[in-house]
Amino acid sequence: MSMAEIKPRNIKFNLAGEDKRNWFNGDPVATAMMDGASVLFPIGETFFIESVVHFRDRVTDPKLLSDIRGFQQQEGVHSREHRRYNKAIEAFGGNIAELEARLQREIDLLDAKNASPEYRLALTCAFEHFTAMLAEHVLEHPDFLEGAEPEFARVWRWHAIEEAEHKSVAYDVWNLVKPKGLKGYVMRVRAMFKATSVFVGQSRYNAKAFLRARGYDRARYTVWGVLRFSMIRPGVLRKTLFEYLAYFVPGFHPWNKDSSHLIEKYKSAYEA
Ligand SMILES: [Fe+2]
Ligand SMILES: [Fe+2]
Repeated sequence: MSMAEIKPRNIKFNLAGEDKRNWFNGDPVATAMMDGASVLFPIGETFFIESVVHFRDRVTDPKLLSDIRGFQQQEGVHSREHRRYNKAIEAFGGNIAELEARLQREIDLLDAKNASPEYRLALTCAFEHFTAMLAEHVLEHPDFLEGAEPEFARVWRWHAIEEAEHKSVAYDVWNLVKPKGLKGYVMRVRAMFKATSVFVGQSRYNAKAFLRARGYDRARYTVWGVLRFSMIRPGVLRKTLFEYLAYFVPGFHPWNKDSSHLIEKYKSAYEA
């Protein structure tokens, strides 16, 4: 069960207007990596909501029902704000519709294969583990966004807080409805492998597409720059590897790692 209050903050961020093409520390690679992840949110988070809400009728616990409501509202606003974010960055180069179509294709494939609601939920749990890991990375390393344009830093910290707050909602529903025994574990692991290839593959693809569209098409950006950001500095993939592996432990639960102190530390900045 969630250890944090899941509080939707309906904020409209002001990202359009000025040219902030290298909004992340003036670094084109770091900017493209974050923008590449942002492309996945509007469609991805809509899918997460649907896959969780599908099982709402099976839930009787009033706390989990209210967590689901909070989750749905938070992801709804994230989806809306990342659509606005993506529209704003498109002005710097890159074709959002083309990139989004790649993610939509994965969802269409699930529809075509008649994927079960349980498997869709398992995918959501896996993606939510990714967003929680990245969120906690942002909150645990205050220097990560230190040199970023303030409004971009604000949108990412806001998203990070809310991802940490609702990180267990999909998983708590999964625990209620998952196939029994080994079958449930195998489905959860299979979904994590799929989610890993989609999340890592597409966010990197998107980052490279942005770099090329913005005139940074040399390998020192698209190959080495992307590798350096992931593995060396700030080394997001390297630093989250341990958390990633924790997902494969049979008794995994998102709140086995208590991140409530991180939420408490930052949330006052977003109080109305
Ligand atoms: Fe989100
Ligand atoms: Fe989420």
